Amino acid sequence: MTSSTPGFPLPGPPLPDPATGAPEVDPNAPERHGPLSFDGIRELDSNPPRIWTVIYITTFIACLWVLVAYPSIPFLSHGGDSSRVGLLGWSSRAALVADAGRAAAHEPSIQGRFERASYTEIEADPALRGYAVAAATSAFATHCAACHGREGRGNIGFPNLADRDWLWGGTPEAIEHSLQVGIRWPDHEPTRLSQMPAFGRMGMLQRPQILDMVQHVWSLSGMPHDAAAATRAAPVFAENCTSCHGERGEGNQELGAPNLTDQIWLYGNSQQAVFTSIHAARAGVMPVFGARLGTDAIRKLVVYVRSFGGGE
Ligand code: HEC
Ligand code: HEC
Repeated sequence: MTSSTPGFPLPGPPLPDPATGAPEVDPNAPERHGPLSFDGIRELDSNPPRIWTVIYITTFIACLWVLVAYPSIPFLSHGGDSSRVGLLGWSSRAALVADAGRAAAHEPSIQGRFERASYTEIEADPALRGYAVAAATSAFATHCAACHGREGRGNIGFPNLADRDWLWGGTPEAIEHSLQVGIRWPDHEPTRLSQMPAFGRMGMLQRPQILDMVQHVWSLSGMPHDAAAATRAAPVFAENCTSCHGERGEGNQELGAPNLTDQIWLYGNSQQAVFTSIHAARAGVMPVFGARLGTDAIRKLVVYVRSFGGGE
């Protein structure tokens, strides 16, 4: 014989007495009549624990608050800015900017340090120098390489920027100036300007005098030459050439006049090229970059050009 009485005590009101057989009634809902138990499990219409109700209502109110306070309802926008919807005016974009600002305040940006540093400071600081070189590499490829070559080694008529021979100067300031104002750039008043006369074409020197002068110029840098011709041209050189190229032909960066004593030839390593330079004169032209690139990009290019190793 089996018993319907469970072998362990149950919570809640006591079970009906099987002896009297009184109907089972749900004490929380008296209209419900048994059988309320099955297999010893009683199912009563009890209230949920109060703590659940409190949590449920609090969460519901919190959800409503989030809905109106944070971006979720478009018509609660701030000043028409659809990214700032919600009573608090919070937006993820503004939060990101604020975070970035806090991070930047922590570590001053390398760009900010670059802007404040002098060329001497930049070149003494590997991080700043590397930053400028990295930033200027593509600018050089875009704006300069066509004339000066990918590695700045130049070409006939386009100076090598990687050697120590400078037409207008190799200090950072001189290079910056060359870039800012350009060289012989037409209709640009501040541009670097100086013009060698076309001695042959203008009739200032006759053809034999020019041929002698070529030998003289060749002698200045110790190239093999006709000594008699070079000597004949010496007084003509003193009279016509030293004002720009210097007493000994050492050049003058104020005037962009090349050094004629260093065996570096802007217009080519041949007597024919020197003849043409004296007969017809040269006037290399470089564009103005000041307005086009802006001072920040130009300063980076200056550091980059000097990184070719030209020095002063
Ligand atoms: C259209 C061709 C051209 C372009 C592009 C050009 N240059 Fe030049 N650059 C020249 C010429 C030509 C000269 C020499 C002018 C002269 O004969 O005095 C020169 C001279 C220079 C000098 C002076 C060299 C010295 O010996 O004093 C510097 C520095 C220089 N260029 C840098 C640059 C940089 C950096 C760029 C790119 C932003 C650039 N150049 C773009 C043609 C160009
Ligand atoms: C008014 C100044 C001036 C005078 C005077 C002058 N030159 Fe020049 N000379 C220059 C300039 C500037 C250049 C560079 C042109 C350029 O960069 O395109 C130059 C370039 C040259 C070159 C080319 C150098 C090279 O590297 O290819 C030779 C050679 C030369 N001059 C010889 C002479 C001789 C010889 C005389 C005298 C008969 C003379 N110059 C007088 C300013 C002058």
